[in-house]
Amino acid sequence: MKTVFSGIQPTGKVHLGNFLGAIKNWVYLSEQDNKNFFCVVDLHSITTHPDPQELNSNIGNTLKLLIAAGINLENSIIYAQSKVPQHAYLSWILSSFSQVGELQRMTQYKEKADTLGSHAGIFTYPVLMASDILIHKANEVPVGDDQTQHLELTRNIAERFNNNYGEIFPLPAKSSGKSGARLMSLKHPDKKMSKSSDDINGTIYFDDDKDTIMKKFKSSVTDSSDNIQYDLIEKKGISNLIDIYASINDVSHEEVEKTFKNSQYGEFKMAVGESVSEYLTPINLKFIELEKENISEIINSNLQEAQSSAESTVQEVNNILGL
Ligand code: TYM
Repeated sequence: MKTVFSGIQPTGKVHLGNFLGAIKNWVYLSEQDNKNFFCVVDLHSITTHPDPQELNSNIGNTLKLLIAAGINLENSIIYAQSKVPQHAYLSWILSSFSQVGELQRMTQYKEKADTLGSHAGIFTYPVLMASDILIHKANEVPVGDDQTQHLELTRNIAERFNNNYGEIFPLPAKSSGKSGARLMSLKHPDKKMSKSSDDINGTIYFDDDKDTIMKKFKSSVTDSSDNIQYDLIEKKGISNLIDIYASINDVSHEEVEKTFKNSQYGEFKMAVGESVSEYLTPINLKFIELEKENISEIINSNLQEAQSSAESTVQEVNNILGL
């Protein structure tokens, strides 16, 4: 049986990119015969120095949102990273198998160093990510395209450890959907859709109501032709909309082009907005319901499983290292 691991930071509001790039695939994988770990990676969020109260409420809300999204808890464990200190422990060990040069080459490190200022947390961030994945010996990591480099690094770290101490860690593979792995801002289609609050009209948040969603799609940036064609060089805006529609409706880019061959941009934008609203609204309604509920029983039993899986890897690693 395959072991799947993935994570999401509890910073800012979860957006459509997080859903189509990651959570939608988590839900799919949770319906297959896998052992899944989906983690709210709150230790990673410390790198942004968040407000403690806000962080605390975001952690709980993100866990609830994963349940609202439909993750099957029969074979999936959801938990907060900081409650399993073995992640940070293994990260220290793995740092001795990580090279400064490769960490310096991480694109996200360079981007974050520009905005957050350069501190050691954003530099060693990918080592903690490797630890998240390896602590449960995951084989598959469903993420968006922005995490590709971090996954390659994880494999390198695992391989280096294995070369020294034997085949301890499987080399994890990245998985993404055929579409939706890199959603762009609706307002700036050359920039990734992100949580940053300076682009609220370019980002669809999970709790946007239908009106807001339709308005955002209506005013999305496209081009001056009226040709619904997937072309990432000349037509970034419309390609992004095609990608969103394809991902939500589980069809190919070509099928979208065919369906909307005779439509104009205005019509197509409304069809994409409708699809997005149909996808997000039930999740948001379920989330609102769960907000009032106490889910501590589910969280505690999931946590115990996560701790025991992580502890068994730590014991193995300790034995091998002679600790
Ligand atoms: P985070 O919290 O930024 O994003 C969570 C997931 O959403 C995906 N994503 C996107 N997918 C498509 N289009 C977008 N515009 C978009 N924006 C975000 C991300 O690729 C991710 O899959 N470092 C990770 C969290 C993490 C992690 C891990 C992931 C920590 N440890 C171990 C996997 C395995 C992050 O910041 O994701």
